[in-house]
Formats: sequence, C-alpha cells, structure tokens
Amino acid sequence: MEGIQLIQLPKIVDPRGNLSFIEEGSQIPFPIERTYWIYDVPGGEMRGGHAFYEMQEFIVALSGSFDVVLDDGVSKKIISLNRSYSGVYIPKMIWRSLENFSTNSLALVLSDKSYDAKDYIRDYDLYLKHKTGKQ
Ligand code: TYD
Repeated sequence: MEGIQLIQLPKIVDPRGNLSFIEEGSQIPFPIERTYWIYDVPGGEMRGGHAFYEMQEFIVALSGSFDVVLDDGVSKKIISLNRSYSGVYIPKMIWRSLENFSTNSLALVLSDKSYDAKDYIRDYDLYLKHKTGKQ
C-alpha cells in the first residue's frame, strides 16, 4: 500500500532492560509536532475510524498489542503491532482504525501537526470521493 512503512526502531539490548528511541530527522519521515497516546482501552473497543487531509502519523505499541487497519480506498491492510521497537508510518489520506487492543496496551502516536479537528475526514464516502478526485 503506497506510502505505508513498517519501521524498525533502534533497540539497545541491555541486561538491565532494553531501550529504543526516536530522534527528529532520523527514524521517521516527518518533523514531530505532537505526541499523544491511547490507553485504558476497554476490551472490544476500537479507535480511529477516519483519515486526515494532511496529517502524517507514526504509531508504536509501546506496550501490549493492537491491529492497525489501513485502507487507501483501493485495498485494505492489517498491521499487527506488538513490539516496543516496531511502528507504522501512515501518510496523509489513509483511512485507519486501531482494533483488537490487548489488556493494558499502550499506543504511542507521533504526528507532524498539532490537533486540528478540520483535518479529519470522518465520513468514509467523503474520504473515497476525495481519494478518487471526484469531490
Ligand atoms: P480522536 O482523534 O477522534 O480519537 P481517535 O484516536 O479514536 O481517532 O480524538 C478523540 C478526542 O480527543 C477528540 O474530541 C479530540 C481530542 N483530541 C485532542 O484534543 N488532541 C489530540 O491530539 C487528539 C489526538 C485528540
């Protein structure tokens, strides 16, 4: 699926406990403007269910596991995240949802823009219209 990247972060293995990191300009392909995290997700709940006109994101399962369900208007792809050093880069204009959260999972999300409600496309048909250039 175009633009989606599964990115392996550095992992410094240490008998005292492992360490991974993200530095601006190195591991992910955008400057980091915002960080947020999703946690305490009740069993069976899902997050997301929208696309962004402009925002790019990078998502890591810092703890536990969940599925990132991606849809570019043509095909669908499910990426299961379950490692603290492995994340998915999602370019703009990709419909996504986060599903199948394990107990105590923690999703870290980095974005290249501040929160902007106007950047959300929450209607799938509208998303498809924009994606196929018919809007
Ligand atoms: P939303 O992005 O819709 O959640 P999801 O991850 O399920 O797509 O955000 C839920 C609410 O949180 C919404 O009312 C806006 C608010 N919010 C912020 O105020 N700042 C943020 O950075 C984010 C991501 C959300």
